[in-house]
Amino acid sequence: MKTELQNLGNDIKTKRIENGLSQEELALVSNVERSQLSKIEKGSVNGVTFMTISRIYKSLGCDISFVKGKNSYYEIHPFVKWAGGKTQLLSTLMENVPSYFNRYYEPFVGGGALLFKIQPNDFLINDSNNDLICAFNCFKNKKDFEYLKEELIKHEANHNEEYYYKIREMDRDDNFKELPIYIRAARTIYLNKACFNGLYRVNSKGYYNVPSGKYKKVNCFDRDNFENLFVFFNKGNKEIRNEDFEQSIKDAKKGDFVYFDPPYDSFEDKDSFTSYNKETFGKNEQERLSKVFKELDKKGVYVMLSNHNTEFINNLYKDYKIEVVNAKRAINSKGTGRGYVEEVIIKNYEN
Ligand SMILES: C[S@@+](CC[C@H](N)C(=O)[O-])C[C@H]1O[C@@H](n2cnc3c(N)ncnc32)[C@H](O)[C@@H]1O
Repeated sequence: MKTELQNLGNDIKTKRIENGLSQEELALVSNVERSQLSKIEKGSVNGVTFMTISRIYKSLGCDISFVKGKNSYYEIHPFVKWAGGKTQLLSTLMENVPSYFNRYYEPFVGGGALLFKIQPNDFLINDSNNDLICAFNCFKNKKDFEYLKEELIKHEANHNEEYYYKIREMDRDDNFKELPIYIRAARTIYLNKACFNGLYRVNSKGYYNVPSGKYKKVNCFDRDNFENLFVFFNKGNKEIRNEDFEQSIKDAKKGDFVYFDPPYDSFEDKDSFTSYNKETFGKNEQERLSKVFKELDKKGVYVMLSNHNTEFINNLYKDYKIEVVNAKRAINSKGTGRGYVEEVIIKNYEN
């Protein structure tokens, strides 16, 4: 039986021949080593990056959709600005994504910057933040999606300082959790756009407590992006969970790909933002995560993780490939101290 890599290789070879190109010519136009292209065509290269495969397909005049796991490619973006969002590290992360994997898992999905870039057909995303997951769930159901847009239009029209605090206080009501998910989702998205610095922060009682960003006008959503997100969430096998990260990856199997983007480990001398929910993600949690990483590694799952470049994290993952990258920090708890911080990308596979 042919492996998926062999099928991919055969597909590339067939399309190359149909285009009348030699291996040398295709290697040249797609900026890939000829020897690597030869291995890809034979299906004998593991861990070749998604970017490499997409360059080859683009050189063959094909839509990216020919790459496994994709049947369409839309520009889609996060619908919320999320602390720790990976938008500015995207090209580096994409260079490190294995081109070939079965199911995609993102247990700390946040705004989902990498998810929306990869656009896998088959995925499980998860986050412990219930308000956020309500919003993701609205993209899976036509009625909730339509109501969500109506609610957001209302929030945009009614926005002012007083209105912001009225919507913010909704979670103080005992029945808040019983409200329809589109109401809660619209609240989350509106507050995210209207609050100070796009923060999500709750107090000890679990009540959202970020002050207003004092904007005169708030745009809650980009219409085209929303329509494309709806299409994306309604194709293929897509699962959205709201539980602890460890539970969410229990079914990951050999050949699946898990990307962990946990709350950051704190720099000793910096005020890092790690309080996304009532519970903080401290050293014990980072240790628990590193054990989960190792178990997945043993199972043959491709695992990638990003975090701050701290000694603690380097020690936890010393047996793996660690690349240090510079990232511009967009949000911290005080809204000050923006600048470059060192982050690490850790993987259990070679590209
Ligand atoms: C660094 S952010 C993820 C950022 C995201 N990759 C993006 O591009 O926007 C970390 C996320 O982990 C979530 N989280 C914190 N503790 C968790 C846990 N124990 N299990 C699952 N998710 C958790 C937070 O709610 C937060 O959304």
